[in-house]
Amino acid sequence: MEKDILEVLLTEQQIQNRIRELGETLSAEYADKDPVIVGVLKGVVVFYADMIRHIQVPCQMDFMWISSYSGTTTTGQMQVRRDVSANIEGRHVLILEDIYDTGTSLDFTYKHLLSKKPASLKICTLLDKPERRKSGITLQPDYVGFTIPNAFVVGYGLDYNEHYRNLPYVGILKPEVYNR
Ligand code: IMP
Ligand code: MG
Repeated sequence: MEKDILEVLLTEQQIQNRIRELGETLSAEYADKDPVIVGVLKGVVVFYADMIRHIQVPCQMDFMWISSYSGTTTTGQMQVRRDVSANIEGRHVLILEDIYDTGTSLDFTYKHLLSKKPASLKICTLLDKPERRKSGITLQPDYVGFTIPNAFVVGYGLDYNEHYRNLPYVGILKPEVYNR
C-alpha cells in the first residue's frame, strides 16, 4: 500500500490538528442544539470517527448511503441507498463528508435532507477541491478541513477501487497504479 504512494499531501498529524480545531468551532456552534450528525458513507467513516470525538457537546449519530444509478438511461443521477434513521424535522443537522469534488453528491444529499425540514442544515467536509466544481453547483460548505489542489487523493477513508481507505494520511497515488 505505502509503496503505491507518490506523495503524502496531508500527514496524520496535520489532519488530527485540524480536526481538533474544527472540534472547538463545532462544539461552540452546536452547544445546546443536540445536533444530528449525518455521515455520508463510505468515504467519511474515518473522518467521522475522529471528528465526532472532538464534538464535545450532546449530539446524535446518523448515516446515509448514496450512490449513482447504474442504469444506462439515468447515469449521473444519484439515489439514496440508505436513508437517515432519525426523524430530523425541526432538528439541527450537520452533514459530515469526506470530500467536496464536483459537488454532485453533496448537492444531492443537501437537498434530500433539506426536504425533511430540519431546523438548520450545515456542511462540514474534510477536503474541498474547488477547481473541480461543476457549473451550476453553488452550495458552499460551512466548514472545510483543507482546500486541496485538483488531484485524485486516497487514504483516510478515501479510496481508489475500494482500496487505500485504511491509510492514516491523505496521499496521491503513483501514476503506474492506474495502469494495473
Ligand atoms: P462529487 O464529485 O463531489 O459528487 O464527489 C463524489 C464522491 O467521489 C466523493 O464523495 C468521494 O467519495 C469521491 N471522490 C471525489 N474525489 C475523490 C478523490 O480525489 N479521491 C477519492 N474519492 C474521491
Ligand atoms: Mg463520499
